[in-house]
This record gives sequence, structure tokens and C-alpha cells, in this order.
Amino acid sequence: MKPTHTERKVIIEQHKRFSKSMLWRLQREYFDKEGANAWVNQVPFYITSNPYIAASYAKIVLAFMRDWIKTHPEAKNQPFYIMELGTGSGRFSYYFIKTLLELLEGLQLQDIKFCYIMSDFTKHNIQYWEDHHALKPYIEQGLVDFVLYDMEAERPLHLMRRNVQLSAELLVNPLTVFANYIFDTISHDAFTIHENKLYELLFNLHTDETNMAHNRPVSMEKIGVDYNIHEIKSAYYGDPHLDAILDLYKKELRSTSFLIPIGSIHAIKFLRKLCNDKLFILSTDKGYTAIPHFDNLGHPTISFHGSFSMMVNFHAISEYFKNSGGDAFLQTPRKGIRTIAFASGFKINDMPEMRMAIVDGVERLSPSDYFTLHSRVRDHFNTYDLDTLVSHLEFANWDPHIYLKVSSRINSLLAEADPKTLELMIKNMPRLAANYYYMPKTECILFEIGMFFHAIKHYERALYYYQQSQSYVGEQFGLFFNMGLCAHYLGKNEEALVHFKHALTLDPESKETQEWITLIESGLKGEKANYVDHQ
Ligand SMILES: C[S@@+](CC[C@H](N)C(=O)[O-])C[C@H]1O[C@@H](n2cnc3c(N)ncnc32)[C@H](O)[C@@H]1O
Repeated sequence: MKPTHTERKVIIEQHKRFSKSMLWRLQREYFDKEGANAWVNQVPFYITSNPYIAASYAKIVLAFMRDWIKTHPEAKNQPFYIMELGTGSGRFSYYFIKTLLELLEGLQLQDIKFCYIMSDFTKHNIQYWEDHHALKPYIEQGLVDFVLYDMEAERPLHLMRRNVQLSAELLVNPLTVFANYIFDTISHDAFTIHENKLYELLFNLHTDETNMAHNRPVSMEKIGVDYNIHEIKSAYYGDPHLDAILDLYKKELRSTSFLIPIGSIHAIKFLRKLCNDKLFILSTDKGYTAIPHFDNLGHPTISFHGSFSMMVNFHAISEYFKNSGGDAFLQTPRKGIRTIAFASGFKINDMPEMRMAIVDGVERLSPSDYFTLHSRVRDHFNTYDLDTLVSHLEFANWDPHIYLKVSSRINSLLAEADPKTLELMIKNMPRLAANYYYMPKTECILFEIGMFFHAIKHYERALYYYQQSQSYVGEQFGLFFNMGLCAHYLGKNEEALVHFKHALTLDPESKETQEWITLIESGLKGEKANYVDHQ
């Protein structure tokens, strides 16, 4: 069909340095408005929020703390502060803390103290973590604190639960920082190189008139971008560590465009000051790690997925660290995300346990490899036998996210299951339950575990998990009907009757429920009569 009229284009912004573009403000407004809903089928987050990546980080951080204590024995008297930037859902935080505690206990190192600081710029996310059932025990033990931190602004950081400022006095041991999927989310500058000349890319934003309301664009995805260029002849940043990076690119690159993650570099500078320049960063994101990776690239592309993100120039961040006396460990290239370590105040090679943990958990089977493998397996779940699915669950540390994807396949295979496989599954169900981190609008793993035990006729445990799931699942017919069945098979008919009657209020048309009620009521009458008879 031919369009009846041409939509008018509206210029939103012209000739803007990228880091000053309104896009970053729109990005923050998006996350602030959405809160935890950002992760309901909008912003991808599984890749950086699973038990596997959290375990890799926990092993590296534990090794780091042990190395540090070896050379600074007094460090044991002070907590290690670990701060997560742009924390988002908090699921990574939960798995990290849980694993670190398990490792400390397993190695009998409980005397090493730590405080995990969850930070984000929006208070809506902090509210979500404060109320989260899974985090409650850690909050109550004082293992977790919260900070409202906008990485684009340099303001004092206030630990909300301890009611103190994060300062060099408090940070006696080095500050560990996690930056997952955040360096790609905050401001960048954009440049292009042509015939050995360096240009700044200035952004022009436009959109259709229909995408405007109250003088601002409604959907970021409908914003179009084009560029002007402006040659840079003098020191652009006026900061020798940063200008040295631009000089290097001008010398090494022939024809390309690249980004400098300036918002992230400013935040790093701020954090370095805050911790007396003793800083250890682990970051997982999509990005470039070596100069040849970004030769001959077109102008930067913006990926929209609810919010938007850019490829991170990890190489520039590592140059910045190296130029200013720090150190970096850049993972060898992967097609997907990469995990990178940055350090200041010490050299990575002087920390042998940590270095080996990085080699093992980043350079070898990394979070990126885990996700690649998982994605391939995920595409073919329905063709796998039970043993393969169970091995995959073991590989994924009994991750509820994965179990929910394969639960119907698993349930269909249980009748023919090998007893040893079943035994392994039964043993690991508490592990799966302990990994439950509630997210809005997702299925409840506790209910699925109930279904598993129900299917293999372990009614006591099925009933237990169904009951545990009640506060998440809410008033659902299936839950009460299943609890009725389990209670009945356990000979608890009075309880079964309560559940079936409740189920009937949720689905008054259910003939099956009515039949169960009639059956049990007639049986109960019989039992009561017998009871009276025997008196
Ligand atoms: C793409 S999400 C990543 C969340 C989480 N780290 C993960 O890996 O799933 C980006 C997060 O950064 C937060 N954020 C955005 N801009 C920020 C800023 N300027 N300072 C601090 N956090 C910011 C958002 O609220 C959101 O939680």
C-alpha cells in the first residue's frame, strides 16, 4: 500500500559531541522509568547474570584477597569492599555473594571479611534489592550495602545501610569493582580517522514527527543518526593519559571510526581517587581489545534493546591504565562478550593466585564460552535425553533460568529415567531452589521443583516445594489442585479437601476438582463414622 503522506522529520539535535548527546539522558530516563521491568523481555541480562559468571568472579576475587593478605597480613583486620556498578537486577550480586561465602566456608577462611556494595543511579533498582527475599539474609548480616551512584556525576558516595561515606579512610584494602554491561551503557566520545587525520564525530539526531511528544522523542529506537566531522589538531582532552591514546590511534590506524568510553574513564578516575589508587576492576561486556580489531570499521552503530548500547573500547581503557601506572589483563578475542581485568596500585603478575584464577576463569573456559555453549544447547533442548540435560544443568551450576527452559522436556522423560540420573537430580534440587532469584513476570522454579517431585511420586517433598512457591505463584488453580493431589496421596485428606476447595474457587468449572471433593468427602464421612464406631 502506498503511503498517503510523507512523515515529517524533526531534527532533535545537531553537531553534538557524542558524550554530550541527549541520548545518554534518554538512556537514564529509560532505566529510571522501567526499574526492574527493564529486564522483562527488554534489556538482555542473562549473559552477565548467571551462576557461572558469578562463580568465575568469586574465584578470582577470593584469590585476589588471599594474595593481598599474603603481602599485607594486617589486611585481614579490615573488610574488602566489592562494588558493583550499574548493578541492575541484582541477580549477579546474589550469585556472587552466595558463591564467595561457600568458598570462604569450604576453605575455612571465614575470618576474611567483605562488604558487597550494590550500586546504580536509579533508586528504583535499590528499592527492588532492598525488598528482595533472596538478598534479605545477606542484608541482615551486614554483608551487603547500597549506594546511589551515577557514574556520570562525581558526588560523594553514601553507604546507605552503614550510613557512612565511601572514602579512602574506609577503604583500607583495595577496592574491587565489577562493571558488567555498564561501560557499554554510559557516555562515549566518537572519532574517525582518514588519511592520518583525526576527526571528532559530531552527532545529528532526527526522528519522525509522530515519535515526538512534549518536545522530546518517545521511542529511542526510532531515532536516526548521521554525522558531521570536525578535525582535531590540538590535544583534545587536555589530559596526557587520554591524549596519548588518541595519538596512538592516529599513528596506528588508517581508516576507521572508534569510540573512547569517556564516561567510564571519568568514573574510573573518580574511583581511583576514592580508594587511594588501589583498585581492581573486573568487567564483562561486548567490546574491542586490540588495535587491529577496530581498523576499517564504519561509523559506530547503536544497538537498541529497550535501552541502547555501544561496543566498549577496552583497549583504550587498558591504555589509560597502563599510561597512568596501572595494569590490564585483556582476554584473547571471543566473538561474543569479553571479560577484562584492570588494576592500579599493584601489578597482576605480582598476584600469582589471582593471575591463575584469571587464566582459568577468563582465558580458558570463560563466561563468554559458557554463554556460547549454553546458547547452542538451548536451541536443541527438545532433542536431548535426560542425562545430557542433567549434565548441562550441572555445567550451569543448577541455574533456575535453564531448568525453566527444559522442565517440560525433563518431566516428559522422567517415567523412563535411569535411577542414577534420578538420584542425581533429587540430590541437586535443593541447590536449584537455593539459586532462585525472583524476577518479575517469570515462572517460579519452586513450583517446577514441586512438579518434579510430584512426577516421581515423592509427595512429601512435592508438597513442601508447592507450599514454598505459594507466595510467588499466588492464587493459581494448578498450584492448589496439585497440593490437593499430593496431600491426598500422603493420606492427609482433610488438608487435601482444603486445597481442592480452594482450587474450585479459582476455577469453579473444574469437574475434576468437584469429583475429588465428592470422593474425599464421602471417604472422610466413612473415616469419621469408623472413628465414632471404634470409641
Ligand atoms: C545494561 S544494564 C546492566 C545491568 C547489569 N550490570 C547486568 O549485567 O545485567 C545497565 C545498568 O546500568 C544502570 N545505569 C545506567 N546509567 C547509569 C549511570 N550513569 N550510572 C550508574 N548506573 C547506570 C542502569 O540502571 C542499569 O541497571
